Parts: sequence; C-alpha cells; structure tokens
Amino acid sequence: MNCNDYPMYGFADKAEVLDAARKYWNPDKTDFWVNEGIPLVIGKREGYVFEDIDGKSFIDMHLNGGTFNLGHRNPEIVDTLKDALDRVDVGNHHFATSGRAALAKALIETVPGNTMDKVVFGSCGGEAVDVAIKSARFATGRKKIVSIIKAYHGHTGLSIATGDDRFLKMFNCSRPDEFAHVPFNDIDAMERALSGDDVAAVIMETIPATYGFPMPAPSYLDQVKALCEKHGALYIADEVQTGLGRTVDFWCFEHHGITPDIVVMSKGLSGGIYPISATILNKRTAKWLYEDGFAHMATFGGSDLGCAVALKTIEITRRAETVEHVKALDALYSKRFAELLEKHPSLIEVRHDGTIAGLKFQGEDEPAVRFCKLLYDRGVWAIFSTLDKTVLQFKSGLLLPFDQANFVLDAIDDALNVLDGEIEKDAGADWTHEMKLAG
Ligand SMILES: Cc1ncc(COP(=O)(O)O)c(C=O)c1O
Repeated sequence: MNCNDYPMYGFADKAEVLDAARKYWNPDKTDFWVNEGIPLVIGKREGYVFEDIDGKSFIDMHLNGGTFNLGHRNPEIVDTLKDALDRVDVGNHHFATSGRAALAKALIETVPGNTMDKVVFGSCGGEAVDVAIKSARFATGRKKIVSIIKAYHGHTGLSIATGDDRFLKMFNCSRPDEFAHVPFNDIDAMERALSGDDVAAVIMETIPATYGFPMPAPSYLDQVKALCEKHGALYIADEVQTGLGRTVDFWCFEHHGITPDIVVMSKGLSGGIYPISATILNKRTAKWLYEDGFAHMATFGGSDLGCAVALKTIEITRRAETVEHVKALDALYSKRFAELLEKHPSLIEVRHDGTIAGLKFQGEDEPAVRFCKLLYDRGVWAIFSTLDKTVLQFKSGLLLPFDQANFVLDAIDDALNVLDGEIEKDAGADWTHEMKLAG
C-alpha cells in the first residue's frame, strides 16, 4: 500500500516538512505556494488522485505537464519497473543494450511516413532539446535557431536560449545573437527570420503549453514547415507536452499535416516512474551519429530501466481502448467547454485539443492564478500558464475516469461563478468531494 512518507524522514508534521524545505531546499518556491494559499506537500498518489500529507485529496489536472499522462503509479508501469529491477540497473551508456535498441525502434515507428532514422536518449526534456539543436546545427552547418516569443523548451544550456528572458537575466546570461524570437502565428515574422538562409532550425511546440495553449492558426504550421524547406532550415517539433496521445493522435503534429525533421519527447515517456527523454532524428539530422557517436553523451540517457518503462508507456498509449477513451474524453470536453463558455462571461476563450486545453479568463490581473486557488479549494489541482497568467492549463490524463472528468468540469463551473461575481469566494469553500485514495 502506498503511504505518506514524512515520518520515515523524521518529520512530525507538514509544518516541519515546509520548514525544512524552506531552509534546505527552495525558500522562494516554498513560500510562493504557501503565500498563494496552496501549501501542498504531496503524499499518497494513485491514478489521477493525490493526497496532500494533511489528508486533503485532489484530482490531478496538472500532471506535471503530462508526466502522469497514464496516471500516478500506473500499476502496469510499476510492475514493468519492478520486473526490470530484477534484471538490470541503469546500464552503461557507452554500449548497445536490448532495451535501448527496442525503444529506439518503437519510437521511430510512432512517426508516420517512415521518415525517422535514429533516436538519441537523455534524461530530461531540456537535454533532448539541446540534442535537437546540436543535430540541426551539424546537419546544416548553420548556427541560428528560431523560436517563438514566450516559448518554453527547458533550462539547459541551449534550450534556455530559446525561451523567455526571465530565465536568462537572473543568471547574467544574455541571449546569444544566434537565437532569434518571433511571435507565434505570425508567418510574416517567421519569413523575415528565415529569409537570410542562415537558420539551422525552427523549434516549436505544436501548441505552446507554457504560453497557455494558443492554437496554431489554420495552416500556420504547414507554412512554417514550407518556409523552412524553402530556406534550408530544419523543423524541430517539441512534443514534450503535446505528444503521447494527448490530442488523440500519437503526435500532435500529425493532425497539423507536417512532418518534422526532429521530434523531441520527455515527461510522459517516463510513465511518471523513471526519467527518460528522446530526440528522434530523420536521416539528415542523424548524420553526426555515423561520424562520432560519442559526440553527445549522457550517463543516464536511455537507462535500461527507463527504456523498459518507456516501452510499456508507448504500448499502453497506443492501445485501441486508450485511444477510444481519449476520443470520448475529447467529446465530453468539447461539449462541456461549449456550455461553460455560454454560461460564464468571465471565461472568454477555450483552446482545446483532445485532453489538453487553455482556459482564458477575462481581466489582466492574473485571473488564472486566482482560478487555480479556487479549483484547489474544490479538490482539483490545475496550474496557471507560467508565461500567460490569464490562462489556466487544463491537462487531463489519457485514462481519466469519466466521473472524475465530470467532477473537474463541475468544479470549474462552480469556480467560474466566483470569477463572474455570482457567488462570494468563501461560498466555494464548502465545495467538497468524496474522491479518496484507497487505503
Ligand atoms: C515543451 C517543453 N519542452 C521542454 C521542457 C523541458 O523539460 P525538462 O523539464 O524535463 O527539462 C518542458 C518542461 O516543462 C516543456 O514543457
């Protein structure tokens, strides 16, 4: 049975955990949540529900960006890891292993059109993005990388330069000239950025998650890809948050009709159990692997344990019953979002695709931060978009049961009454739910 572990670590209660976190871990982050009235210390977790160690339970609609796409401690994935632990360990990254070879083949086969050739493994999304950029630079002999303003691709050496200034300035880093930013959905700006024929790659999320899931305008991605081809640049699809069946197709770019040169994946590939990332390369971008296979190394990249878990994750994600469930959730969300939009003036836009959505609220004063707390009070954990605090990220698990999905939608409905000014904030405090973890 899963249990809260704080006594194991010598803490008497939640306050002691928070004090130690403040003192030894991250004071600002710890205090940020406490000050927002969200002093979460996650203990038990199972399926799509977790408990704060003080006993309150929540439906997880954040999923750490999709890491828990298949639920917390998915029993099949846990069993896969346990079985792998009886046979292997992290492994030696210099040698071929059965798991690594099998996972690389499985990932290549997920991309339609038989266009992909090799996979480089890492242990986090930022590293996978770094590998993508390095591969594109090697393939093209060019240096420049174009990304979207308010993009988020991680915090490692190269990925951080593709993102928001907020994360660069702090550490006295300036954006190197070879990283250019353009506004999302602005094809003219993209054309200008590519027109010098000096760009190695454009990197984009198919739907930029941390920017609040703005949907690509019809044919925008097609046009970006066409411009890349015209100007000799490569197209990197960062599917860390949008891939793995979250938008019904295995990869979100599939229903935008584009074939990337490189696909980046992490988070959900771990099954929420063992860190792993993958950079999937086509023939052109895989060239360096024929020349110097030691040119990028990562001790934990594609560990034997991670490969076993990721293979199981892909298998569950591709099952017909999983895909059917995602389609049914998609239909439920479409219907209920339309009703919520009709009913609540404070909800001004819903950007929805499959199991993910951005809920945009009226007002400039960080309404999604307020809404996040209103949902927290109603037993739902969903997070605002870091780079657009007017938008709440709605991230549903692929296997979320319908009763829990409806519970979340009811909680959103109720919380919207507060934003609309229909009910006082405190009225929501009585809103309770019966969702309890077993044991
Ligand atoms: C789209 C996207 N790419 C890359 C990353 C970086 O992943 P990691 O935190 O595993 O380095 C993230 C993390 O949130 C992400 O959302």
